[in-house]
Amino acid sequence: MSTDFTALFDEWSDSYDETVAGHDPEYNEVFRNYLHILEEVVKKSKGNTIEFGVGTGNLTQLLVKSGKRVCGIEPSAGMRKVAKQKLPEVKILQGDFLSFTHPFQFVDTIVSTYAFHHLTDDEKETAIRNYSSILGNDGKIVFADTLFEDENAKSNMILKAENSRFHRLANDLRTEYYTTIPVMKDLFEQNDFTVTFTQKNDFVWIIEAKKRRRES
Ligand SMILES: C[S@@+](CC[C@H](N)C(=O)[O-])C[C@H]1O[C@@H](n2cnc3c(N)ncnc32)[C@H](O)[C@@H]1O
Repeated sequence: MSTDFTALFDEWSDSYDETVAGHDPEYNEVFRNYLHILEEVVKKSKGNTIEFGVGTGNLTQLLVKSGKRVCGIEPSAGMRKVAKQKLPEVKILQGDFLSFTHPFQFVDTIVSTYAFHHLTDDEKETAIRNYSSILGNDGKIVFADTLFEDENAKSNMILKAENSRFHRLANDLRTEYYTTIPVMKDLFEQNDFTVTFTQKNDFVWIIEAKKRRRES
């Protein structure tokens, strides 16, 4: 992944926790119910857990508190530094959704919040296919991220952001790889998962994808 991109997150790392607390009006709705969203992801997780895009470690902290063994993967050195200050005892490794190592013999859950949209739809497919092979029989993926019901809903949200003069938000929605529920549903089903989507605010949905049991 590009170093320009990680530089943006390095810069954001010091003020990121203020943004999620609602200090930035443009992103208020995106982060509405942030803590509840992370808690829901934790509730749906179990056992040995890989977390991608840990950022400042907020989800990591909750996962560890609830007794999961966690390995965090994070490409930005700035974000890793903040997360490690909060969680010195947790493994937080350099890597990304597509290129990473982990210490587990078996992986029960793969989680991520507010990060999967950094992959193009083709990259999302590659990642999900890889996770399907890593996860054990009862394994699952639990992601929370911005999704749209269809392209029309996405265009309307960009328009709404522009009308509210939320130019940074409108630009993010236009330039990052936010996708739609039908696309995500296909990607998971093609890779042997059954998937459900639960909306948590105007932007964020929780995606819970369980591996289909293979008949023996
Ligand atoms: C908006 S922050 C979310 C942080 C945290 N998960 C949370 O919920 O608060 C997005 C994070 O994803 C990371 N990220 C960006 N591209 C990534 C990639 N390709 N693979 C894994 N993480 C990525 C960024 O460095 C950043 O820490």
